[in-house]
Amino acid sequence: MTRRKLAAGNWKMNGTSADLVELEALAKAHPTPGCDILICPPATLISRAAAAASAQIAIGGQDCHQKDSGAHTGDVSAPMLLDAGAQYVILGHSERREDHRESDTDVRNKVVAALSAGLKAIVCVGESLAEREANNTLDIIGGQLAGSIPDVVTGDSLVVAYEPIWAIGTGKVPTLDQIGEVHDFIRIRLETRFGAGVGRSTRILYGGSVKPANASEIFAVSNVDGALVGGASLSATDFSPIITAL
Ligand code: G3H
Repeated sequence: MTRRKLAAGNWKMNGTSADLVELEALAKAHPTPGCDILICPPATLISRAAAAASAQIAIGGQDCHQKDSGAHTGDVSAPMLLDAGAQYVILGHSERREDHRESDTDVRNKVVAALSAGLKAIVCVGESLAEREANNTLDIIGGQLAGSIPDVVTGDSLVVAYEPIWAIGTGKVPTLDQIGEVHDFIRIRLETRFGAGVGRSTRILYGGSVKPANASEIFAVSNVDGALVGGASLSATDFSPIITAL
């Protein structure tokens, strides 16, 4: 099965309207990209980013509430993201799980809300350094997949991002064998639970210190269908060669 690759940029809590020029530069550099390109700016920029982005760049949110509306000060719902022009939403990022104490159940409910609204959900999983050193990586990933992904997914609506927590923003990257082991494991778990259709069509991204210098070798690993990129997605100069490497 051919899966269209995805280069996803997560701007995290970075960016103001002045940074939208990066979208224009990306669009200019990739008029007919060979992969899907996604930028997830902070919520304050989604509407303007969606207006500024050309057709070949999709826009996404970094989180959504599990309810569509209500008394939840400061939160943003999935229908609101869609209304602002988002097509995707990142859910269960380790920074959300840690900073906001999001559980697998919280993430699963958010995924249901996102899919109900018509968004594609990028569900993040990943182990801590202590969990890896204790040889618990696959148990942790398996538990997060089981707990964070609801039954109601399709291969088109779900993307899984494997992000070892210890690799995020640190410059440390797992070995290619370690990446391959986890991605193959995720593929098997998806196929076992959802069947060959969803299991084989769901894209699995790697995230954690992806840079222009290491993108090609990471993308050559089996079952790596793209990347979820933080720091290197903030400038078109850095993100563009990562897109080209796909
Ligand atoms: O969502 C993106 C990841 O947390 C990776 O961030 O590329 O800055 O390591 P990073």
